[in-house]
Amino acid sequence: MHIDLSHSKITPEGGALARAEKALQTLREGTLPNTGWVSLPSAFPGPLLLSIQEEADRIARKCTLFIVVGVGGSYLGARAVIDALNGNRPGRPHVMFAGYNMTGAHLEKVIEAMREQSTCLCVISKSGSTLEPLLAYSILKEEMFNKYGEQRAKERIYVVTGAQDSPLRRDIETYGFRSYAVPEDIGGRYSVLSVVGLLPIAVAGIDIERLLKGAAGLSMEGIAAYAAVRIALQEAGKAVEVFTYFSTNLRYFGEWLKQLFGESEGKEGKGVYPACLCFSRDLHSIGQFLQQGRQVFYETMIQTEKPQADFRIPDCAGAPYAGRMLEEVNRCSEAGVVEAHSGGGVPVNLIKVERMDEENLGALIYFFELSAAVSALLLGVDPFDQPGVEYYKKATKKLVEEL
Ligand code: PA5
Repeated sequence: MHIDLSHSKITPEGGALARAEKALQTLREGTLPNTGWVSLPSAFPGPLLLSIQEEADRIARKCTLFIVVGVGGSYLGARAVIDALNGNRPGRPHVMFAGYNMTGAHLEKVIEAMREQSTCLCVISKSGSTLEPLLAYSILKEEMFNKYGEQRAKERIYVVTGAQDSPLRRDIETYGFRSYAVPEDIGGRYSVLSVVGLLPIAVAGIDIERLLKGAAGLSMEGIAAYAAVRIALQEAGKAVEVFTYFSTNLRYFGEWLKQLFGESEGKEGKGVYPACLCFSRDLHSIGQFLQQGRQVFYETMIQTEKPQADFRIPDCAGAPYAGRMLEEVNRCSEAGVVEAHSGGGVPVNLIKVERMDEENLGALIYFFELSAAVSALLLGVDPFDQPGVEYYKKATKKLVEEL
């Protein structure tokens, strides 16, 4: 992985980098609350890893469809990784996500797919009481009972939740569903490399050991510098960080980044608003504004040097394209955008990986998790709480109870 901050054309004020280095060191010491995720890549408990892998293989033998019910950090990480690595491996179940919305048309589609295919259901919620996933789960659990009968359905339903009392914990006790505990010291948006993300990812056939190995091998070089540049850009008046990428497979990685930075930094009137754009598509829409509209943006571009697919352009495309790899043209567009955006006054940070595989993605995830936490610490806010989300959850619950 290579971090190139030169196109951001800003030097953090003296001392900012040292503060960022110090914050990174404090995080890595693991003394702060809610930092259980920091040691996961290098010290993931072996028996738990084996249990996740074996359970995922058993699930894969049982079904063709694995429905994951969850919202926020309880689904975005898994979805981001599975999409970034091009979906489930051949012969492994398709992983479908539910419970992150309350759209009837979407739930109908999930139920339809479930009726047509051999299905396992997995609900993931640390609190065990979040409205959206709990509602979807109660409906889908009933569908599973109707389809398989209660006894057989019990062997196809999985619950990943915190240890405290909750409706989900009570269901584990009532029905004896197979379950995993979400560690107390790991919050939703930092949980992708815990059982929360790893179970669905392993069901999709992705090598979770390689993902952890990549994260464990991440060089700490560049993390503090990126965090310090982010704060300097914010102090220079930039209010929006736009994460950009030239692969449709990274769309959910962008969504995961939005949650990670948005919930970690956006409180007490502080933080930059995280947005994401998928190029080429968005170059032909919002890209115009990014480059020449009101200048509140800076860009953080995720670049992948080697393509995931060797698609060669056929002769019908004519010169100069015929015979070239499609990704070569994509790289030209990428270089053109860096030139146009940074040349036009938009600061651009480049985060480069050699290829989008398990190791590099693991490193990328860990890089951004550490960067988000360091940035929040530099801003003086708690990276690990989300009081606004809790407020909305309570307000909605009250209104629902009055229905
Ligand atoms: O990052 C967080 O902690 C939150 O965004 C949660 O992931 C989200 O609210 C879902 O919570 P839960 O897993 O308790 O259902």
